Amino acid sequence: MKATLSLILAATLGGATLAHAQEPEDFIKYREAMMKAMAGHSGAMSQIVRGKVSPEGHLQMHAKSLAELSSDIASMFPEGSDFGETEAKEEIWKEWDKFQQAADKAKQATATLAATVDSGDEAKIAAAFKDVGQACKGCHEDFRKEEEH
Ligand code: HEC
Repeated sequence: MKATLSLILAATLGGATLAHAQEPEDFIKYREAMMKAMAGHSGAMSQIVRGKVSPEGHLQMHAKSLAELSSDIASMFPEGSDFGETEAKEEIWKEWDKFQQAADKAKQATATLAATVDSGDEAKIAAAFKDVGQACKGCHEDFRKEEEH
């Protein structure tokens, strides 16, 4: 058992070493793609929550996907990824604890939404969906350059 564990640890540490080779610019592209995916699920959900469409099972699908995509936002902002084509404010790294809190808030809000969707209670779903929107917006207001988004 112990041998297996150290093999796993070695493999994990190997991965961590590789991480140093990643370019900040690539993290910028990565997180923008991730944020767009999150916005895609939010936008699709908004159509369902507002009662415009009701495809069977899709609300669950989007809520779960959004919760997974939002589960570790802070890891998409490694130190040094604050230059180039990015809307990330340098406050992210200056006020890392606050940024981390904003990320945790989104993690919790999206997890709550996913759990609430399973309850099928429309009023609660709408409220939880609103909280998710506020968690996105709250972080953007403090840490993203273009506020009009
Ligand atoms: C903890 C902070 C934080 C949270 C929470 C957050 N975002 Fe972002 N978001 C950012 C930052 C910072 C950027 C700018 C990233 C960059 O340009 O490098 C961004 C960028 C974006 C973009 C623009 C991507 C692009 O193409 O440039 C979209 C869309 C977006 N976020 C949607 C969302 C949605 C939807 C949510 C909620 C489900 C969300 N964000 C939650 C911090 C956050």
